[in-house]
Amino acid sequence: MKDKIALFVFTVLLLLTGCTPAKRDTGVNKEIERKVDELVRKMTLEEKLGQMNQISSWGNIEDMSNLVRKGQIGSILNEVEPARINAMQKVAMEESRLRIPLLIARDVIHGFKTIFPIPLGQAASFNPALAETGARVAAIETSSVGIRWTFAPMIDISRDPRWGRIAESFGEDVYLTSVMGAATVKGFQGDSLSDPTSIAACPKHFIGYGAAEGGRDYNSTNIPERQLRNVYLPPFEEAVKAGAATIMTSFNDNDGIPSTANAYLLKTVLRDEWKFDGFVVSDWASVTEMISHGFAADNAEAAMKAINAGVDMEMVSASYIGEAPGLVKEYKVKESDIDEAVRNILRIKFRLGLFDNPYVDVPQKEVFYAPAHLADAKEAAIQSVILLKNEKNTLPVSASVKTVLITGPMADAPYEQLGTWIFDGEKSHTITPLKAIREMMGNEVQIIYEPALAYSRDVNPAGVAKAVEAAKKADIILAFVGEESILSGEAHSMAGLDLQGNQSDLILSLAKTGKPLVTTVMAGRPLTIEKEVNASSAVLYSFHPGTMGGPALADLLWGKAVPSGKTPVTFPKMVGQIPMYYSHNTTGRPATRKEVLLKDIPVEAGQTSLGCTSFYLDAGFDPLYPFGYGLSYTTFEYSNIRLSASKLKKNDTMTIEFDLANTGQVAATEVAQLYVQDKVGSIARPVKELKRFARIELQAGEKKTVSFELPMSDLAFWNIDMKKEVEAGDFNLWVAGCSQSGTPVSFEVID
Ligand code: NOJ
Repeated sequence: MKDKIALFVFTVLLLLTGCTPAKRDTGVNKEIERKVDELVRKMTLEEKLGQMNQISSWGNIEDMSNLVRKGQIGSILNEVEPARINAMQKVAMEESRLRIPLLIARDVIHGFKTIFPIPLGQAASFNPALAETGARVAAIETSSVGIRWTFAPMIDISRDPRWGRIAESFGEDVYLTSVMGAATVKGFQGDSLSDPTSIAACPKHFIGYGAAEGGRDYNSTNIPERQLRNVYLPPFEEAVKAGAATIMTSFNDNDGIPSTANAYLLKTVLRDEWKFDGFVVSDWASVTEMISHGFAADNAEAAMKAINAGVDMEMVSASYIGEAPGLVKEYKVKESDIDEAVRNILRIKFRLGLFDNPYVDVPQKEVFYAPAHLADAKEAAIQSVILLKNEKNTLPVSASVKTVLITGPMADAPYEQLGTWIFDGEKSHTITPLKAIREMMGNEVQIIYEPALAYSRDVNPAGVAKAVEAAKKADIILAFVGEESILSGEAHSMAGLDLQGNQSDLILSLAKTGKPLVTTVMAGRPLTIEKEVNASSAVLYSFHPGTMGGPALADLLWGKAVPSGKTPVTFPKMVGQIPMYYSHNTTGRPATRKEVLLKDIPVEAGQTSLGCTSFYLDAGFDPLYPFGYGLSYTTFEYSNIRLSASKLKKNDTMTIEFDLANTGQVAATEVAQLYVQDKVGSIARPVKELKRFARIELQAGEKKTVSFELPMSDLAFWNIDMKKEVEAGDFNLWVAGCSQSGTPVSFEVID
C-alpha cells in the first residue's frame, strides 16, 4: 500500500468552505434608486401600504385582481399556476395606476418539484457547493412558473431535536450554518437577481426561533444579547453579505420582545451595522399575533409597533393596510418611515427585473424533474447520509449475499421520504429504496419485501412477526425505519424522540434472528435510537433524503458510493439530555471520564457528591453521537499537524497543514474539520468551535497534505465589553474527523 501513497500539497481554498466573495446585487444602483424615488413620489398612502401588503392566494382570481388593480397588493404567496400569475401580473402592469409588478412567493425549502434532502440532511454533507446546487435547481424550477421569491434558507441555529423545525435548519453549529446558508442564498439568487431563473432568498427566522423553550414551536426564547451576537446572528450576517434580498422575522419573543417589533435588531443591527438594503417581511400573521403575545392591544397597535420597528411587508394579517392610514394621521407612524419600507420593497422588485418582465412562458414545465436535476438530487442524497455504525464491515452488502429481506415502513414510502415542506413535490416521482434496489440489483439477488408496518406510527404486531419469519430466509436484512414527514417541520414538536409505533420492536425482533441487520433511518431530526443501534450490525442515517433517496441509498448499501456525511447536530441518547451541543461553554466543573452512573452507586450511599462534574447519573455526559461524527467504508488517519507559527498577531493569518491518509481499501471522501478553543477569555468560552472544514477525496492508500488558512480575525467574539474582538492569549486547535476526536496543538495570539 505504501508505494501507492502520493504526497502532495492540497491547498483547501476558502472556496471549499463556501467563503467565496459573494456576488451581490446590493450596493447603490443609482438608476434603480432614481426610479424607486420617482415612483414613491407618485404614490398615494394607500398605494404605498398596498406594496407593504402580502396576501396568501385565496383562489378567486377576480377578487385578487380587483385589489391588484387598486394597488392594494404588493405580493402574493402560495399562487403556483403560471397562467393565473401572468393574468394578475397583467392587471398589475396594465390596469393599476402605477404599473408596479407583483412579487409572487412560495415556501421552496428543499426543492420545488425535484426534492433534495431536507436542509438538515444537506448540512450533513458539509458541502456548501451541494447546497448551492440544490438551491439553483429549486430556483430554476420555481421561477419557471412565475414565482420569484422563496422563504428560505432557514438558518436558525437548532440545538433541540424536539423542535420539529430542526429539519429545515442546518443544525447546531454557527459556522456550518453560516456557510451552508450563504451558499443557499447564492444558489437561489444566482449571479444576478435580474436573471429570470433567479429567485429572491429570504433567510429566516430573525431571530432566535430555534431556541424556543422546551423545543415547543412558537415558544418564547431568552437569549442574552451576547449569545445572540455570538451564536444566533452570525448566519444572518453571512447571508446578508451573500446578498440576501429579504429577511423574515420570527414568531418568538426574545426576553419579552416579539421579533416582529424588535427595532434594535431590525434597525441597529440589520440596517445600521450590516447595511442590509433589501426588505424585511413578517412571518405569517406575526404582526397581529403580537396581540396574543400581549404586546399589542389591537391591530392598530400591532401595526404601529411592527412598522416602527422596521418590518417592511406584512404577511397576510393586513393590519398595515387597515390601520396605517389612521396611524399616520395620528402621528403614530411617520409617512417617511412608510416611504422607506416601500423603497426597500421596490428596490428588490427592480433588482429582480420584474418591472421589465414579470411574465413567464406558459406552458413551461419541461424543467421539472429534469435529468440533471435528478442527478444533482441523487448526489446530494448520497452525501447527506451518515454511516453511524458498521460492525464487521456489514456494509457494503457483499457480493455473496443472494437473498435480501427489505422491510420497514420507510422502505417504500414515496411521500414520507420527501420530508417536510414539500408543497409541490410529487410522490409519483419519488424513487424509494425498494424500487431502486429492485432496479439496481435486477436478478443478482432475490428480494423478499415484507413491510411489517404500513407507516411509522403503525403498531401492528402481526406485521412484525411476518417480517421476522421472512428474515429467516434472508442472508441480510435491510430495515428502513424513521418518521413520516408530518412528524417534523413547523408545529411538529415532539416530547419523545424514540422510534414511533412498533418500529423499535421490529428492529429488536429482527436482531434476534441473528442475521446481519442493516438499519436505515429516514427522519426529520436525530432520534433517540441507542437500543436499535446496539441491536443492528450497521446503521445509516439519511434524514429525509428527497426524490432520489432510494437510488442514493441503493448505491451506498451496495458500495457503489461511500458514505461521507457527518452529524450536523448532536444525537442525544435520551431526550432528557437536551439541549446538548458540542460547543457548550467551559464549565467550572468540566466533564471528565470519571462519571458515575446509576449502576455504580451503592445502596444507602453516603450523602456525597458523585463525580462532581456536569453529567447525568442515568446518561453520563456523552451523547449517542457527537457533532461532526460519521464513518466511512474506509478509515482515515490524521497526522503531522503543523502551524505556520505558534505566536500570531491579531491581524495575521495562520496556515494549518496536516496529512490525511486513506488507510483502507476503497476511495472515499473525508470531511476534515478544524476546531479552535480560546482557553481564557473575558467571558467563558466554548470548549471548541468549528472554524473550517473541507471534503477531501482520497484514493485507497492515498495521502494528501491538506492546508487551511485561518485569519486570526476569525477568532473574534462579542466579549465582556460587548465588542467583537480577538483577545490575546492561548488557544487549542484540533484537526479531526469529528468534534470529539483529535489531539490539540496550541498557539498564542499576541497583541
Ligand atoms: C410560517 C413559517 O414560520 C414560515 O417559515 C413560512 O415561510 C411562512 N409560514 C409562509 O408559509
